Amino acid sequence: MKIGSIDIDRPVCLAPMEDVSDLPFRILCKEQGADLVYTEFTNCEALIRNVKDAQRKLELSDLERPVAVQIYGSAEDSMEQASRMATEAGADFIDINCGCWVKKVAGRGDGAGLLRDLNKFRAVVESVVRGTHLPVTVKTRLGWDEDNIVILDVVKMLEDMGIPTLTVHCRTRRQGYTGQADWTWLPRIKEASGIQLIANGDITTEDHAKECFDLGCDGIMIGRGAIHSPWIFGHMKHYLRTGEKLPDLTLDERVDMCLRHLADTAEYRGERRGVMSFRKHYSGYLKGFHNIANLRRDLMQHETVDEVRERLLRFLEEYRERAAEEAAEAAA
Ligand SMILES: Cc1cc2nc3c(=O)[nH]c(=O)nc-3n(C[C@H](O)[C@H](O)[C@H](O)COP(=O)(O)O)c2cc1C
Repeated sequence: MKIGSIDIDRPVCLAPMEDVSDLPFRILCKEQGADLVYTEFTNCEALIRNVKDAQRKLELSDLERPVAVQIYGSAEDSMEQASRMATEAGADFIDINCGCWVKKVAGRGDGAGLLRDLNKFRAVVESVVRGTHLPVTVKTRLGWDEDNIVILDVVKMLEDMGIPTLTVHCRTRRQGYTGQADWTWLPRIKEASGIQLIANGDITTEDHAKECFDLGCDGIMIGRGAIHSPWIFGHMKHYLRTGEKLPDLTLDERVDMCLRHLADTAEYRGERRGVMSFRKHYSGYLKGFHNIANLRRDLMQHETVDEVRERLLRFLEEYRERAAEEAAEAAA
């Protein structure tokens, strides 16, 4: 798949995720095999007003390249200006969010709201293209609702405009996250245009990854599956290359990665904010291990890295002791 000078065969990409795909998480996913990473979406108006949180989202590192900065909005002048700012920040390409379903975004015509007015959609994409010399890509959904699926019109429109790549979350705006992503649209989108297609929605296993590539997609994008298992990128790529599935990570490996990720997040965001924002990651790192209700409750209350580290290491020790006892009982 080619986006400007970026050329990657069958990329497995980290999805843009607000409050998740920050710099430490992107670098971790990159290290775990993600080929392309996307920033959290940034509102064009907030960028222009130099809102601190929006500026933070434009902090990029060479460790994560190639990286896309994702912006959203529907005011053309503001999108053009935001595109310029994302370019100056050092993005490798710019992605436009045309798929966010939440009311405060889509309800005012931004994100998936653009799916209700394709003329506006086109004008917004044109404005972003005007603001940059970089490639511009789009991420969207199938349509506003099941009676208004417009993805085939969208893909033709974008192809006419020279947009190289489209990511489709295979749900409608109305669906939010309900139901299943409908991958049957993927080959239909490919047939309708020559645009490079990145599949998104409910891709969480090696088999899912293979299925989406078998359906003709050029790339795949992983969101929630990466929150649960940041190592999923390497595992999927290994399977696509060899047909073999790598073993799941051991508890030691998970705790090790979790603590490293936590320390990086705390350093990046400041300790208290970093530890609080990290709480969404514990259940993924600990998935599949038993008797963790107390551990989870404690982790949700801790506010420093040291407290979390001490609690996790104690859990690890207890877990090892229990496993040793069980093995001894089984042998007796
Ligand atoms: C916590 C969270 C935040 C998200 N933020 C964004 C965002 O900033 N931009 C965007 O395009 N999509 C966003 N999404 C949607 C994901 O990029 C993705 O399209 C969706 O989760 C479906 O993929 P998945 O099934 O692999 O999670 C977000 C999703 C989640 C779970």
